[in-house]
Amino acid sequence: MVLDGQQDASITAAAQALRAGQLVGLPTETVYGLAADADNDQAVAQVYTTKGRPADHPLIVHVADASGIGHFARNVPAFAQALVQAFWPGPLTLILPRRPGHGAAAAGQQDSIGLRCPAHPVAQALLRACVAAGVHGVAAPSANRFGRVSPTTAAHVQDEFGDGLLVLDGGACAVGIESTIVDCTRGVPVLLRPGAITRAQIAAACGIAPLSKEELPAHTPRASGTLEAHYAPNAKVRLMDTKALQAGLDLLGSDAAHLAVYARTPLRAPQVLLRRMPQDAEAAAQELFAALRGFDDAGVRLVWIEWPPATPEWEGVRDRLQRAAAA
Ligand code: TXA
Ligand code: MG
Repeated sequence: MVLDGQQDASITAAAQALRAGQLVGLPTETVYGLAADADNDQAVAQVYTTKGRPADHPLIVHVADASGIGHFARNVPAFAQALVQAFWPGPLTLILPRRPGHGAAAAGQQDSIGLRCPAHPVAQALLRACVAAGVHGVAAPSANRFGRVSPTTAAHVQDEFGDGLLVLDGGACAVGIESTIVDCTRGVPVLLRPGAITRAQIAAACGIAPLSKEELPAHTPRASGTLEAHYAPNAKVRLMDTKALQAGLDLLGSDAAHLAVYARTPLRAPQVLLRRMPQDAEAAAQELFAALRGFDDAGVRLVWIEWPPATPEWEGVRDRLQRAAAA
């Protein structure tokens, strides 16, 4: 059932559902989440089974504001506090030392916890209503089945889980790809997942350039958003540079049924479903997952995608494309 997230009655109903241990489809500025009371282990367990997600892959816990951190985390380093100051509410998740006895199921039993304060007004309204109802945070992975493309509209969430789920409609997500994740448990910031907030912004806000997870000595906790093959549509995705893409299209001629092309460069491609990727990285991120779902809806079996530029503002989009192509 989809409810209008603008209505107070919808927010009240969703907060009550969460309080009662039910799941709710939640709009955020990045993607839609599948939310459960983070302190209710049974509700959290249901998130894992509904998604088909392995139980040792931790979920992100969403809080109404920075005052919600202390319930779930402790020993927050100064650089993490600077990031909270700079980017909350917004598309930034921090991995922090977990407060023992809190959010264990959501954290996949790890001694760290991922916290995020979403900026979307519907998410904000719901999280504040939750606090008033005694729910300190909601665990919410992206509202899609494990490994699939994340949803950026309420209709996408319904496509994934059917009409039995209560979904708050907050419109199309403005950012379109999942939050930037920074691990703050290793003494320096470590970028676990690129997103709308860039490395340069992180460095500027806290004074320390983030490391990449490849630069870490020890192994990082298991994390599905960081699996190589993820965010995949049904169609096979192949990433190509502009030249190879045009050469492939010229070779195919009219023999290109079930092929789609997603490219920023104008190409000669008479017979295929050709979709232009926005020139601007933010606009490309915003429509990316809807575009991938659109290819599936059109019955396409193969999508050739032109690599976007290897510049910092494209890091999040390139990351998601790479994972879609790895499936
Ligand atoms: O934008 C987003 O972050 C969206 C919206 C709904 O807020 N949520 C999201 O959640 O992408 P999810 O569950 O699909 O991604 C969770 C990822 C994990 O795959 C992992 O990479 C990281 O967050 N994560 C969460 N808790 C962690 C922890 N304790 N240690 C390490 N990584 C963690
Ligand atoms: Mg996900």
